[in-house]
Amino acid sequence: MKIIQVTDIHLGRQGERRYGADLHQRLASCIAHINAHHADAAFCVFTGDLTETGAPESYADLRTALSELSVPWRLLPGNHDRRANLVAAFPEIPLDENGFVQSAHQTADEVLLFLDCLAEGRVEGELCDRRLAWLEARLEETAGRPAYVFMHHPPVALGLPQLDPLALEQPERLLGLLRRHGDVRHIFFGHVHRDIAGTVAGIPFSAQRGLHARFELALDRSSEIVEQAPPSYAVVLIDSANEHVVVHGCDFLEQWPIYSGETGEPIMA
Ligand SMILES: [Fe+2]
Repeated sequence: MKIIQVTDIHLGRQGERRYGADLHQRLASCIAHINAHHADAAFCVFTGDLTETGAPESYADLRTALSELSVPWRLLPGNHDRRANLVAAFPEIPLDENGFVQSAHQTADEVLLFLDCLAEGRVEGELCDRRLAWLEARLEETAGRPAYVFMHHPPVALGLPQLDPLALEQPERLLGLLRRHGDVRHIFFGHVHRDIAGTVAGIPFSAQRGLHARFELALDRSSEIVEQAPPSYAVVLIDSANEHVVVHGCDFLEQWPIYSGETGEPIMA
């Protein structure tokens, strides 16, 4: 199963440039690239911060952009989103029984779990009792089936002093449930605008830097520095039967000089 992860679009006003970039253009280029190269993907999962301010116009713009995407998509909210405006613009997106943007998708081989960790008006992530109860029920239903989790906030401290206080609150509550299920194979998240991989509670995770500018790598101090690194999406290859998960980063706007590996000669595009 191929899944595309796109994160942190931060779609704002049309024509606006943030840190020198037009996020509307970036999203359009990203969607065109996915259509051209990964139309066979089962899903394109947008892991939050869909918009910059949660404004209704931004979700309308997102809806227009997504009408071009040839791959089925799922939307998750991030801290920059506003749930009510998101749901109003996309009334077809699945919600849990309490109105959170949470859903599960089962295939013959696995279950994909999409979590809503938006705490309205706050930057930190939250999975409240009701959201965790929903997750617990889904995990019980799917006991024995490999599970993959998608969310916005990291459920793990990443060693980044600026960002770690803004992660998922009380991550041990989530991780306890995932560990109890016993076969959660990977956690995918965004929020930190960097490419990061590791494990937490024995579960592999990866973060994708996404479409917005990247935070600089600052391990020893708080930093407000933002780097205009190339935007990127992830191509995730899941083979549950053979216990494989592979995450490729795709810098879809970049073009580097190319050479023949055989002759060392440059290849003219
Ligand atoms: Fe973000």
